[in-house]
Amino acid sequence: MQKIDEKRLISKALAAMENAYAPYSNFPVGACALTSDGEEIMGCNIENASYGLSMCAERVALFKAHSEGKKDIVALAVAAKVDEPVSPCGACRQVILELAPKATVYLSNKDGSKVKKMTPEELLPYGFTL
Ligand code: THU
Repeated sequence: MQKIDEKRLISKALAAMENAYAPYSNFPVGACALTSDGEEIMGCNIENASYGLSMCAERVALFKAHSEGKKDIVALAVAAKVDEPVSPCGACRQVILELAPKATVYLSNKDGSKVKKMTPEELLPYGFTL
């Protein structure tokens, strides 16, 4: 079993957050997915003037990873500028369950001082599958 450097992964998510494009919500989010090979794939939320086209940080990271053939995701860190650990939206929970089912998910606050560690199944019990 691969040792996950939780603090490093969270600091990568916090760094990714700095690239967020969130002029409408002013709610930047960062994420970092870790593969079984030790690769780190970062993502941030990217909004659009046509609001519904906006994409969350978690999905950017997971879609980037999968589109590059990096499919064995062992961990995913998510961070936002909030006092308590960020809570992923329902859509991201559904995508995490499917694309990173074995991942340990680390949910961080604004500086990594408060972190929740969860499984995809805990984030989305009885999630939809085909
Ligand atoms: N957001 C994420 O990036 N991840 C989440 O899990 C929750 C919401 C983004 C979407 C939007 O750009 C902003 O946060 C406010 O909803």
